[in-house]
Amino acid sequence: MKINNFSAGPSKIPNEVINTIKGSIENFNNLGYSILEISHRSSEFLDIVNNSKILFSQLLNIPSKYEIVFLQGGATFQNSFLPLNFPNLNKDIIFLLTGTWGKKTYDDFNLLFANNLNNITYNNHTLKQLTEEISLTKQDKMFLTSNETINGIQLRNFNSFNKQLYIDMSSDICSYGFSWENVEYVFAGAQKNLGIPGLTIIIFDPNKLNVQNIPSYLNLQNHLDKNSLFNTPPTFSIYVLYEMLNWMKNLGGLEYIENLNRVKSESVYAFLDSHEEIIQVPVNDEFRSLSNIIFNFKNKDYDKAFLEFAKENGFIGLNGHRSVGGIRVSNYNSITINMIDDLLSLINDFILKNDNK
Ligand SMILES: Cc1ncc(COP(=O)(O)O)c(C=O)c1O
Repeated sequence: MKINNFSAGPSKIPNEVINTIKGSIENFNNLGYSILEISHRSSEFLDIVNNSKILFSQLLNIPSKYEIVFLQGGATFQNSFLPLNFPNLNKDIIFLLTGTWGKKTYDDFNLLFANNLNNITYNNHTLKQLTEEISLTKQDKMFLTSNETINGIQLRNFNSFNKQLYIDMSSDICSYGFSWENVEYVFAGAQKNLGIPGLTIIIFDPNKLNVQNIPSYLNLQNHLDKNSLFNTPPTFSIYVLYEMLNWMKNLGGLEYIENLNRVKSESVYAFLDSHEEIIQVPVNDEFRSLSNIIFNFKNKDYDKAFLEFAKENGFIGLNGHRSVGGIRVSNYNSITINMIDDLLSLINDFILKNDNK
């Protein structure tokens, strides 16, 4: 049976990338050995690191003053790594909380910053109300989660906030382009649009780095000085990132990808809205995520029944996060228009089947 993987992460890897990786596992670049065996000190691996950084800069149009570093520990590690390396944030950062992941980051920061931090919590604001409320606060800097993977809430208008931004972009990095004008630090776990777990990418303005006397692995300056090779890095995860970036470039870059993501997500939301008598989409139009589309059936029994029906038909990863339930369609870059069409037919079949009962 054909499997359609809509998982929120780790998530679908494009077939083209899987095929390239298959070849590299057998024999990387005709070197006669596997990518799995590559030494992180070899010139071949150094090329992978440097070329990935170049591809990243090109795709995301990153200004030259920014640095890119590859780390481990997942996005969650950033919740302690970031405040340890930027202790001055204690004085001047506010958090914009739009969901579960931002709250986790906020709580971890507060542990290190003696509960000194303030937040604005999104509560069905309009974007205008939110920007107004933010503009009244005194802090220069703001943390936000650009896409709340569990809650399906996305913020893409970074320039509408009058703050220097620190952003968790784990679930929507490289799904659209943006201006770096007021962005100081971005982090993202790789396991959605950038490949597989084990790798976290950070992109930051090194002039803001305020390094203290902290243990060596925790010190960002060490990772920067050693070009992400301070200790043994997750070589395979970095290689997969490299192939994902090549794939995005060959597909047509972020403009093309963003457009595709828009077309796909708009067709899902339009379908869901056209069935509002039985389906509920809890996120307001302005904040609806292109990356994670959340909904539930008004009849609670239908959620479980639909997920079972989906699984029987080869559709996996559609369950909402265990903390919220419901259905979640993760529409990452690797999801094709055909997959979305097939999914909408599946939901339609489910509705017809149950309406006739
Ligand atoms: C937006 C966001 N932030 C943070 C995390 C945590 O990532 P990790 O499991 O890599 O620590 C996730 C995981 O899905 C996420 O979606």
